[in-house]
Amino acid sequence: MITLSVIKADTGGFVGHSAVHPDMMRTADEQLRERKAKGFIEDYCVGRVGDDIALIMTHRHGVDSELVHRIAWEVFQATTQVAKGLKLYGAGQDLLKDAFAGTIKGLGPGVAEMEFEERPSEPVIVFLGDKTSPGAWNLPVYRMFADPFNTPGLVIDPKMHGGFDFEILDLRENKVARFHTPSESYDLLSFIGSPNRYVIRNVYRPGDDEPVASTSTQRLSLIAGRYVGKDDPVLIVRCQSGLPAVGEALEAFAQPHLVEGWMRGSHCGPLMPVGFDQADTSRFDGPPRVVAYGFQINDGQLVGPRDMFGDPGFDKARQTALEMAEMMRRMGPFEPHRLPLEEMEYTAMPEVMAKVADRFKSAEPAAVQQAAAPR
Ligand code: F6R
Ligand code: MG
Ligand code: MG
Repeated sequence: MITLSVIKADTGGFVGHSAVHPDMMRTADEQLRERKAKGFIEDYCVGRVGDDIALIMTHRHGVDSELVHRIAWEVFQATTQVAKGLKLYGAGQDLLKDAFAGTIKGLGPGVAEMEFEERPSEPVIVFLGDKTSPGAWNLPVYRMFADPFNTPGLVIDPKMHGGFDFEILDLRENKVARFHTPSESYDLLSFIGSPNRYVIRNVYRPGDDEPVASTSTQRLSLIAGRYVGKDDPVLIVRCQSGLPAVGEALEAFAQPHLVEGWMRGSHCGPLMPVGFDQADTSRFDGPPRVVAYGFQINDGQLVGPRDMFGDPGFDKARQTALEMAEMMRRMGPFEPHRLPLEEMEYTAMPEVMAKVADRFKSAEPAAVQQAAAPR
């Protein structure tokens, strides 16, 4: 069995919240090279998108391994020191606690991990998102594993024809539930259509407990109880031979959808698929974006990465995303570009409300009744 762990954090931005400084990338690489030399992990790749570093690691210690989580914690401590030394922005932003206690979960970084038996050939794609949140994966993961208009394999590959099981997490109640598709697609969609509350956590083949896709489902704002940066998510998808083809997994991002995040974690904007050379955010601190690291796993070694969105085939998607961005930006501080009050990461509303509270008088009962009357 092999475990693929992707642990990502924002430990400082260059410039502002836009990118990761090369010295931080170098430090993360040196740290993981040392851990690999000691035999703690099989292999690694240090990925990045926007201001986030992603530690992509293979190892034999299973999910939730204290050793592997501790390694990630130590690497992020080291990159934080580099960020502090350069006075980069928000150094250590996602490290919410001072001490490591057995797991990195709940300490700030995002975690997606899966343990599986390596197949004769094991293609995987690691998607990294910036300026958005875990619910951003709901729509594309549904497209990959349950929508035959995206994934013809669901119809024409006998190995996929039985459908897939989705495990969703209720972020508010901290409860999980499983749904089979296609038979329970409409039930599933009733939940995952609200991606700020219900997020897809894992996808399985029916009757099998080995995940074929896995997401990070932390919400920093819920963990920290206050704004500490958007919890930019990661997604792992295994591909081919009875799973979505690489091109079917990528196709799920070809028609950009609107996600929560962007400026101040408080806006709705398109998720733009980009190549490695376009991974840094700029316009209005965005737009939200996703990069795709492709690997073949060979006896635990990560053969890759290959830049899966660095293809003119996605130019049209990028163009569409930019047009959507333009349209949303015209709304300025109005919903639905600006998120509803309860979903904003920043809000001056309590202060504004406190300042003007005594201006609000009871409205005329008649006016209220009139407004509330059914049509
Ligand atoms: C969104 C994000 C940025 C910041 C914005 C303000 O996820 O990271 O849009 O929210 O640049 O940042 P502060 O409050 O640090 O000045
Ligand atoms: Mg940041
Ligand atoms: Mg980020």
